[in-house]
Amino acid sequence: MSETRRPPGQFAPGPRDRESSRLVTGAQREDDSNVEKSLRPRRLDEYIGQDRVKNNLNIFIQAARAREEPLDHILLYGPPGLGKTTLATIIAAEMGVSLRVTSGPAIERQGDLVSILTNLKPGDVLFIDEIHRLSRVVEEVLYPAMEDYAVDIVIGKGPAARTMRINLPKFTLVGATTRLALMTGPLRDRFGAVMRLDFYDPGAMEQIVRRSASILTMQIEDSGARMLAGRARGTPRIANRLLRRVRDVAQVAGEAVVTETTANRALELLEIDVLGLDETDRRILVSLIDKFDGGPVGIDTLAAATSEEADTIMDVYEPYLIQLGFLQRTPRGRVATRRAYEHLGIVFPDERPNQPSLFQGTT
Ligand SMILES: Nc1ncnc2c1ncn2[C@@H]1O[C@H](COP(=O)(O)OP(=O)(O)OP(=O)(O)O)[C@@H](O)[C@H]1O
Ligand SMILES: [Mg+2]
Repeated sequence: MSETRRPPGQFAPGPRDRESSRLVTGAQREDDSNVEKSLRPRRLDEYIGQDRVKNNLNIFIQAARAREEPLDHILLYGPPGLGKTTLATIIAAEMGVSLRVTSGPAIERQGDLVSILTNLKPGDVLFIDEIHRLSRVVEEVLYPAMEDYAVDIVIGKGPAARTMRINLPKFTLVGATTRLALMTGPLRDRFGAVMRLDFYDPGAMEQIVRRSASILTMQIEDSGARMLAGRARGTPRIANRLLRRVRDVAQVAGEAVVTETTANRALELLEIDVLGLDETDRRILVSLIDKFDGGPVGIDTLAAATSEEADTIMDVYEPYLIQLGFLQRTPRGRVATRRAYEHLGIVFPDERPNQPSLFQGTT
C-alpha cells in the first residue's frame, strides 16, 4: 500500500528541497523558525480559531488542574502549519509544567526513548512530533509508558536475562501527526483524546494576519489583511510567511502601510492565485487533467508525472486541493473535479463539443 511507504533518504537535491523552497508550503522552512517563535501564541486565549479543539482542551485542562492530576494523553493531527506544535506548547503552559520536545524520526532506539521517559518530572508534557514515524520497536516502549507509567527494560543477556520494570512519573504525552492513517491502532488507542485540526476559516485567518502584523509592527489596511488571509490556504504558517514577503515589497516601494494594492502586487510576483494555489498546485492539477484525462490515477503515477514525492503530495498539496473540492481520493486513484477544470479554465469533458470529425459540416 503506497500510503504506508516512507520516502527513501535523499541526498541529491530532490523534490523535498523544491518543496521547502516553495512559498505556500505548509511545511516549515528554515527562515520560518525564528519568526515563528515570536509569532507563536503562548496561551489558549491567544490561539485563534479551531474553536472545537480549543473548547475541548479548555475543559480537559481545567478538569485536570482541579483534580491536580496530569492531563490525559492527547493526539493532534492535521496538515502542516495549522498549529500542532503551538498547541503542545500551550498545553504545557496552561498546565504550568515543562515541555520536553522530540520527534518520531529522532528516536532511533528503545534506549533513547527510555532515557527521555525516565528523565521526565511529574506532570511534564512530552511532545513527540511526527509520531507516525516512530519505529515499531520504539513504539512498544510507549505502550506501558502511556498506560501504566512504566517501562520494562531487559537486563543481562541470554538465559540470565530478566526484565525489570521501572516506574515513571505521571506525565502527559502529546503526539502530533500529519498522517493519522499511518499510525498503528494500539498507539492511537492509548490516547485519551484525538483532536483534528482543520484549515482555518477566512475570519480566523484574517485575525491571525492582523495579530502577526502587529507583532511585526507592520501597518496593514483591512483590505490588505483580508486579501492575504484569503490566499494563505487556511494555514497560519503560510499567512505569516506571505505577510513577511508583502512587508518586503512594501518596504522596497517605500510604503509605510500595506495596502490591498501592495498585497496584490506581492502575490502576483509570487504567482499565487486568488485561491492561494501556486505553480506546483496548478502543475499537479494540469498534469492530472492533461496526462490522465482527469483520473483516476494512482498517487505514485501522479507523483512521477509531476516529479514530486508521493508523500509530499499527500501531506502538503492534496489536503488543500481536496478541501477546495478540486481533487478527490477514490479507491482507484486521484480524480480532478469539475471545479478544478473551471478554476484552471479548462473545459470539463461533458461540455466539450464533440471532436470535429471528417464528416462534420457535410451532414
Ligand atoms: N491558532 C493560531 N493562531 C495564531 N497563530 C497560529 C495559530 N496556529 C498556528 N499559528 C502560527 O503558525 C505557525 C505554525 O504553527 P505550528 O508550528 O504550530 O504548526 P504545526 O501544525 O506544528 O506544523 P508542522 O506539521 O509542520 O509541525 C506558528 O508559529 C504560529 O505563529
Ligand atoms: Mg510542528
